[in-house]
Order: sequence, then structure tokens, then C-alpha cells
Amino acid sequence: MPEASLATMPRHVAIIMDGNGRWARARGLPRTMGHKKGVEAVRDVVRTAGDIGIDYLTLFAFSSENWRRPEAEVSDLMGLLKAFIRRDLADLHRENVRIKVIGDRENLRSDILPLLLEAEETTRNNTALTLVIAFNYGSRDEMARAMQKIASKVRAGLIEPQAITPELIDAHLDTVGIPDPDLIIRTSGEERLSNFLLWQAAYSELVFVPEFWPDFNRDLFLSTIETYAGRERRFGGLTAKPALMGQ
Ligand code: FPP
Repeated sequence: MPEASLATMPRHVAIIMDGNGRWARARGLPRTMGHKKGVEAVRDVVRTAGDIGIDYLTLFAFSSENWRRPEAEVSDLMGLLKAFIRRDLADLHRENVRIKVIGDRENLRSDILPLLLEAEETTRNNTALTLVIAFNYGSRDEMARAMQKIASKVRAGLIEPQAITPELIDAHLDTVGIPDPDLIIRTSGEERLSNFLLWQAAYSELVFVPEFWPDFNRDLFLSTIETYAGRERRFGGLTAKPALMGQ
């Protein structure tokens, strides 16, 4: 039995799409142009993920901290997300893509929540790629909301504190039912997770690429997958899968 095995195709890829602002600044353009170009990169990557048979693609579209940006930029980003769903939903549905949204849905603006719900509802039975959109998402916030749900169940006497296991916590996160990401990519040369999928990233391979998000395309995506495929995955043991540990 091999001591570790090389990763092959990732089942779940998650992406921190960073560098829209710097891409625009480098060209003397307003930041909003960077975000606009970023949406084109989103389309390219979603198509590629579907073509190569990735099961789950998670995109960090808007963090719970992004509300701190100037109002005009927040409004631009909202506008782009709304336009993406309005314009692309029919195509994605036709391509059998299932959309899921993670993040806090409380107090979301009334012009965005119904669109997100419609996207989920329309595509819920699709069976090709699952596109997970992280919107108003922060990992610590997600974990705090999960703890609140679990604590309420303990207080109501529905579960014992000893029943709180990693699996039970998984079942109360926004990502319930979605496998942990095998590969997390961040563009723009920054090398940190920035409150993205902290719990789920326990054994993810991380690949950081220097290109700004608007320049991320099919070829770059395929080359990050090649990098991933060359990595050895041990999941804390000597063998490739937890199931083989101790054998
Ligand atoms: C980071 O660039 C990017 C974002 C904060 C948002 C990403 C959003 C999109 C690509 C558009 C909408 C999304 C979808 C799914 C249609 P930055 O502004 O932080 O860049 P900087 O670090 O160079 O300033």
C-alpha cells in the first residue's frame, strides 16, 4: 500500500477571487471595471469547471466584511451579482448547473434575497456542476450561527452536549451536504484564507496564483488543477485516505 497518494481531479474547488481593484488600477480604470471584468472570468471558470467534470465550485462573491467598502462599490458589486443571476440563470439551468448560496441570509436587501432564492429554487434538481455562491459569507459568522443552532437544541433537551461531534457541527453549517473543498485557489498573490471556509479547509490543498482575478481564465484554471494533481495528500495519516489509517 502506498504511504501517500497523489491527488487526481478535485471534486470540489473553491476560489477566493482577489485583485479586481488592482487589475483596474494597473490600467488606470475605475475599480468597478475590474469587478465587471471579474464577472467575465466567473463565466469562463464556471464553464470550464462544468467541462472538466468538477462536481462543486464555490466562489467567494461577497464577504460579510465587504459591507465596509464605500457605498458606491457595495452597490456596484450588488448590481453585478444581480445582473449575473438575471442574465445567466437561464443558461446555467440549461447546462444543468445547480446553484447554492452560502452566507447569512438575515437582513439581506429585499432586491437581492428573492433573486438568490429563485436561483436556488429553479436549479435545485439539476445534476451537473453545483455552483456555490458565497454571499454575505464569513466563516466565523457561519460557525457562530451553527453554534447558536446547536446550543438551542441542547437547551431544548434535544441533544446532549456529548453528541456535539465534528459531524454534527458539519450538519449545522451553511455547507451541509457539500463535501469539503479539495482545492482552494486564491488569485492576486495574497496568501491567506481571509475568513473563507476555515472549518471546511482542514485538509484542503491551497494554491496561490499571482494573476489578478480578471485575468484568471481556462488555461490558468487548468494549470492550478495540474498543480493540485501533483500534490501528495495524507489527511494527517501516512496513507491517502482516513479510511486507510491504521491498516
Ligand atoms: C476582490 O477584488 C473581489 C471581490 C471583493 C468581489 C468578487 C466579485 C465578482 C468577481 C463579481 C460578482 C460575483 C459573481 C459570482 C457574479 P478586490 O476588489 O478586493 O481587489 P483588490 O484587492 O485589488 O482591491
